[in-house]
Amino acid sequence: MKGLLLVGGHGTRLRPLTYTGNKHMLPIANKPMLLYGLEHLVKEIGIILGPVREGVVELLGNGSRFGVAVTYIDQPEPKGLAHAVQVSERFLGTEPFVMYLGDNLLRQGVKEFVETFNEKKLDCLVAVCPVKDPTRFGIAELGKEGEILKLVEKPKEPKSNLALIGVYIFGPSIFEAVKKIKPSGRGELEITDAIQMLVNDGKRVDVEKVNGWWKDTGKPEDLLEANQLVLSDLKESMQGEMDQEAEATGQLSLGKGSRVLGRVRMRGPIIVGNNTVIGPNSYIGPYTSIGNNCTLKNIEIENSIVMDGSRIEGGSSNKRIVDSLIGSNCTILDSDSTVPRGYKLIIGERSYAQI
Ligand code: DAU
Repeated sequence: MKGLLLVGGHGTRLRPLTYTGNKHMLPIANKPMLLYGLEHLVKEIGIILGPVREGVVELLGNGSRFGVAVTYIDQPEPKGLAHAVQVSERFLGTEPFVMYLGDNLLRQGVKEFVETFNEKKLDCLVAVCPVKDPTRFGIAELGKEGEILKLVEKPKEPKSNLALIGVYIFGPSIFEAVKKIKPSGRGELEITDAIQMLVNDGKRVDVEKVNGWWKDTGKPEDLLEANQLVLSDLKESMQGEMDQEAEATGQLSLGKGSRVLGRVRMRGPIIVGNNTVIGPNSYIGPYTSIGNNCTLKNIEIENSIVMDGSRIEGGSSNKRIVDSLIGSNCTILDSDSTVPRGYKLIIGERSYAQI
């Protein structure tokens, strides 16, 4: 079955991290987010590319590095998920396909959904999951027998808490449906409306609940939560070097050329990329991902993501860095060693600091 991976859109909700790049390239446990979706899809994958494409083509190329064949499909403006299906019709042809939103992480993958779709000879299968905040999602209202009564995109007064998670399997009847629908209140061609059209037309549409965790990375705090979920399954790997004085407990993955120097306490799960230097006098706490080519000295940090090329050097009076997202090539230094003492901030538009 062909796959369609959506990595278009503007990524506005993740600014400032997405001012200079595609949101799906942001790292979760040191791996660009879009690779989690790509790894669930097989052989022939269409990639929906929007206006912000930096890094995507450089990473994926023709897909051979990842054992797949990639075709890029242009969607110059993010006119909606159903529009993404419209522009992919030629690539997808008449066979069923899996559509996967590139900002979603799903532990179980898509295999079971494909099996159900085939076994039940469906026209559409939608993966769903109960959520706490149904107003943020497409929502499925089900009848007593589990049949779909109604699908609503971001309802103001939700009648169900079952969210459409961003993984769909479609047969070719979806192409008619995406042509018939009109833009929604937010000006997009909603895939939820197109699926409702299939239901109205008497097509075989079913939902299947997700097993295990699923995470949509719409907001910055979601990135930290996704990072925690992925790091919970981290495999130990020691390619770098640790001084004898350094102590590590829990799962730790230390990349090639990385060094942990002097008195450092690492409490996993922690992932560290390549050529990064940590220590001395530091504490790296659970659920922390540190990218490639970083320097961390005299600091305490936990439940945070530090992206490639960043430098953080603390002093004796510094507080622990917690629940933080630090973009690539950032510098954070101790303010005690400079005069006048005080916070010196060079922060881009829409940045957030709590000091
Ligand atoms: O996360 C699940 C939710 O995803 C569903 O519950 C909703 O029914 C569905 O509409 C969608 O809602 P979002 O508001 O979260 O969609 P978002 O605009 O964030 O886009 C989802 C992904 O698709 C994201 O990776 C960007 C990409 N995209 C989006 C649009 C609108 C495209 O590639 N092209 C587009 O035109």
